[in-house]
Amino acid sequence: MKNNNLGKFGIIGLGRMGRCLIEGASKAALLRKEDLSFTTRHAETAAKLAKDLGIRAAASNRELFESSDTIVLAVKPQNVSDVVGELKGLNSKGKTLISIAASVRTEQLEQALGSKVAVIRAMPNTPAFVGAGMTAICAGAHASQGDLDRARALFAPLGRVAQVDERHMDAVTGLSGCGPAYIYLILDALTEGGIKVGLPRELATELSAQTVLGAAKMLQETGRHPAALKDEVTTPAGCTIDGLVELEEGKLRITLIKAVVAATERAKTLSGSG
Ligand SMILES: NC(=O)c1ccc[n+]([C@@H]2O[C@H](COP(=O)([O-])OP(=O)(O)OC[C@H]3O[C@@H](n4cnc5c(N)ncnc54)[C@H](OP(=O)(O)O)[C@@H]3O)[C@@H](O)[C@H]2O)c1
Repeated sequence: MKNNNLGKFGIIGLGRMGRCLIEGASKAALLRKEDLSFTTRHAETAAKLAKDLGIRAAASNRELFESSDTIVLAVKPQNVSDVVGELKGLNSKGKTLISIAASVRTEQLEQALGSKVAVIRAMPNTPAFVGAGMTAICAGAHASQGDLDRARALFAPLGRVAQVDERHMDAVTGLSGCGPAYIYLILDALTEGGIKVGLPRELATELSAQTVLGAAKMLQETGRHPAALKDEVTTPAGCTIDGLVELEEGKLRITLIKAVVAATERAKTLSGSG
């Protein structure tokens, strides 16, 4: 395996997302185990992960930062200020800090670290666990195209990557970050609809999942407007229009729009929520 451009690689907070990242990067041959180190909050968690995964647990967040070229900050938003407090004053020249903490702005990290550190903010989502994730990345004030390229390479094995302006990151959180939960709710309801009309649960689940997957793929691969694709399924006086009328009466569309807006508003406040 060749370590191409991530250099010495450290993850502060090797939780679910952190593990997903190293798994993807290792499979894509971007990382060698010997170049990887990590921290967790609890020493016993770190000892177990080091043993299970065969990777080095750093002695502290400071030690990890000093010994890494690319550092991923993967702790919960409410733990970020403690971590950056520990890192303050360290030499960040030539390093790239990639933060996946929801709602934490690059400017907050730059100010807290008190240096011209190159910061990339990223927002992945959980389908990354099966290689079908959606990650948005944006650059802080001191990050270069090379830093963005490194971040893109890191998230690419986990699905699609979009580069956005930072002002859109809370909206990204409200849509693709939280979105899998909205779709699971829809999948559960579609499955129960199938059960209500007599389908066995296993079959109803398969039909719902493949229908959502297929509709999303149609949208991506044809590049057509969803309304045009919907019209194609909707025969005059057929069955689909009866289903659509129910969805309109149940206010599905406005409810989903409001869900994205509410989650975006919440994302704006998350890092200060303690
Ligand atoms: N999961 C998602 O859907 C998702 C999607 C996009 C973005 N994110 C973001 O990804 C980040 C991580 O989420 P997650 O789901 O992976 O969380 P997680 O599984 O709870 O992992 C958090 C990790 O941070 C460690 N940690 C906490 N305080 C620390 C400290 N002071 N120093 C070092 N490590 C510390 C924890 O260690 P212990 O285990 O010892 O407590 C744990 O390993 C969050 O900021 C979240 O906003 C998550």
